[in-house]
Amino acid sequence: MSELTHPISVTASQTLESQYTSGVYPKRDLTIVRGKGVKVWDEAGREYFDCVAGIAVAVLGHANPIIVDALTKQAETLITCPGIFHNDKRAQLLEKLVAITPTNLTRGYLSNSGAEAVEAALKFARLATGRTQVISTMRGFHGRTMGALSLTGNPKYQKPFKPLVPDTQQVPYNKLEKLEAAMSSQTAAVVLEVIQGEGGVRPADQTYIDAVRALCDEHGALLIIDEIQTGFGRTGKLFACEHYNLQPDILCLAKALGGGLPIGATMISEAVAEKLHPGAHGTTYGGNPLVSAVSLAVINAILDQDLAAHAAEMGAHAHQRINDANLDVVREVRGKGLIIGIELKQKVYPTLVALQQMGVLCVPAGVTTLRLVPPLVISKDELDRVLDLVIQVLRS
Ligand SMILES: Cc1ncc(COP(=O)(O)O)c(C=O)c1O
Repeated sequence: MSELTHPISVTASQTLESQYTSGVYPKRDLTIVRGKGVKVWDEAGREYFDCVAGIAVAVLGHANPIIVDALTKQAETLITCPGIFHNDKRAQLLEKLVAITPTNLTRGYLSNSGAEAVEAALKFARLATGRTQVISTMRGFHGRTMGALSLTGNPKYQKPFKPLVPDTQQVPYNKLEKLEAAMSSQTAAVVLEVIQGEGGVRPADQTYIDAVRALCDEHGALLIIDEIQTGFGRTGKLFACEHYNLQPDILCLAKALGGGLPIGATMISEAVAEKLHPGAHGTTYGGNPLVSAVSLAVINAILDQDLAAHAAEMGAHAHQRINDANLDVVREVRGKGLIIGIELKQKVYPTLVALQQMGVLCVPAGVTTLRLVPPLVISKDELDRVLDLVIQVLRS
């Protein structure tokens, strides 16, 4: 391996990554090298409010001592232990997940990412029902592995990889008729987000969610809810399902669950678990002690600090301020808690660039929606500073 003989400048590190990366990520003109709380810094020492947070991942902010302590302590104790053995930290994490997720979910499978949580849900639905048809929604996002991609309702992502998993289809979101027409005695599962994240920060209606639950029961199909982006306090409740008083048969979790470390979880009802058998699924790193210990610490911090209530309060404040600003360019403000979608009457990309120049990092959700998913620990003062800058940029 060659040695670096000079410090990497901003340009040099971007050139280096561009030279060796696969090229599948559209890159921004920014190299992030450090983070603390809700802020990150680039190589030139410029600071940014991080309303990306690893894309709704860093709920406790960056370099949080709770995470650093749990990580350090567990790294010195035991990092890896495959699923064929029992492990204390994995056991405690599963117990905690069962305790905090909807009451009918009594068991969980641990993996390493959101897409993997969805892949497991797909396999479990086939085993539990003996059926193959899976229906998801347009604009829904469930990941990019072949199974998850087959459910992700975005033709741009799906088209180059066809044929996808057979017997999968997408129907319009938040509208019942097409779903009703598509469902039959062959339907294994319906998969959806109760608030679509990537698809534009779109909360579903209560009547729609109630009707989908009833349709699944009527047809003997499972309802798989993807809370990979909305879980763990982001929407102002611990899980977005709670806004709808909804009990899914399978719940997919990831992102915030690890506070920045890679983890996925597929929570299942007893009826689903009864149909699984040893060897049905698995992954080398799933539920490893290191990530399990951190995940436990993250969940405990979310509960101890009541970050769900804080997210609800901050979200309401943000909606109020953006609406009160009466910005000509804004079509609508959507979301719950600290998943904030600002739909513009124009493409969002120039706004993202302008905000980055002003020291605020955001992500798009679709072509015209600006999405803010800051760490849940953001203070009111920090949020107000972010909102000042967002309003300033949207007004200019
Ligand atoms: C709702 C939802 N499901 C699934 C995924 C896929 O998760 P991952 O990127 O960890 O595979 C994402 C990622 O953005 C997501 O927002």
